[in-house]
Amino acid sequence: MADDTKRALVVKDHIIPVAPDLPILDQLLLKGIPVEYQCRAGFCGACRMRLKSGEVRYLETPIAYINEGEVLTCCTVPVSRIVELEADYLKKD
Ligand code: FES
Repeated sequence: MADDTKRALVVKDHIIPVAPDLPILDQLLLKGIPVEYQCRAGFCGACRMRLKSGEVRYLETPIAYINEGEVLTCCTVPVSRIVELEADYLKKD
């Protein structure tokens, strides 16, 4: 039987196995991905990334403004098995 709890993030050509119940930001930082953040509480918008594919769920309603197609990684968890995210600043190196 397939393990329904497995999730993976795809960020900058990395496939990162993650847990379904921890904020995406925390999991990216634990894996050494240099993502931007400040408040870690949905207020500032610094952690925004574009959701290229997949589905996320908000743990709390954020206050920060985001554009269509963006998500706040500090207060979302992955819902779909694969969540693909990108940010312009990660492309520069
Ligand atoms: S780090 Fe401030 S909204 Fe996510």
